[in-house]
Amino acid sequence: MSRRRRIYEGKAKILYEGPEPGTLVQFFKDDATAFNNQKHEVVEGKGVLNNRISEFLFSHMNRIGIPTHFIRRINMREQLIREVEIVPLEVVVRNIAAGSLSKRLGIPEGEVLPRSIIEFYYKNDGLGDPMVSEEHITAFGWANPQEIDDIMSLAIRVNDFLTGLFLGVGIQLVDFKIECGRLWEGEMMRIVVADEISPDSCRLWDIETNEKMDKDRFRRDMGGMLEAYSEVARRLGIMNENEAPRGKGPVLVKTDK
Ligand code: TMP
Ligand code: ASP
Repeated sequence: MSRRRRIYEGKAKILYEGPEPGTLVQFFKDDATAFNNQKHEVVEGKGVLNNRISEFLFSHMNRIGIPTHFIRRINMREQLIREVEIVPLEVVVRNIAAGSLSKRLGIPEGEVLPRSIIEFYYKNDGLGDPMVSEEHITAFGWANPQEIDDIMSLAIRVNDFLTGLFLGVGIQLVDFKIECGRLWEGEMMRIVVADEISPDSCRLWDIETNEKMDKDRFRRDMGGMLEAYSEVARRLGIMNENEAPRGKGPVLVKTDK
């Protein structure tokens, strides 16, 4: 087997050189980290689930005209993506108060926000991803005003799509994080959704029980992380690769005649 060139390794994923110029292979690891790597465990099977869930969400976004870096899933742990220039921001959209927003502003977890709120964090592990404003972003040249506008409208579209999708399977989308990238097509550049969207990067609560179905299970030592991610996949109708196709097949309908 030929060795592929490794382009980048993050906490949960590895990027390899792709088969054609302008493409990369995104590999999903089983590593779970929180609080900037202070907490780190290997959760066997998490990478496979996140690969499938992210594939499902990104391919639907592509289909409804939300541009993404995603091309196709290659196997259990890898997907083919377009090479983009990552904007060094974590873009968080919040619908319900939770996590750092609750802590920072003293808003009880679970309170519905007056409207969806977008926040930016500077992607820098050494600094612990500090929150930044548009002023910082433009002054330091991480993105220009037009790009910030594009990122915000993408974030809103992703929020609308994900909120509706998850609501349909009995899950409330509390908040989530996306990363965006610049995709160059000849002379033209556009901002697309990159990275991943999975229970690692969303807060997902069961609509009936408020049970957490996301990485907070790991962050807060609640256990049952893999079970929760599997349940998200199951509700979205994502099957295991080895699972028999679902559906009962033709059913004879009894009539009185
Ligand atoms: P926060 O409440 O901790 O700021 O998180 C907001 C959302 O962003 C939540 O859905 C988890 C996600 N997130 C990441 O994906 N990566 C991160 O590094 C952090 C801090 C949050
Ligand atoms: N992803 C970040 C880390 O690994 C933080 C988090 O998601 O809580 O440290």
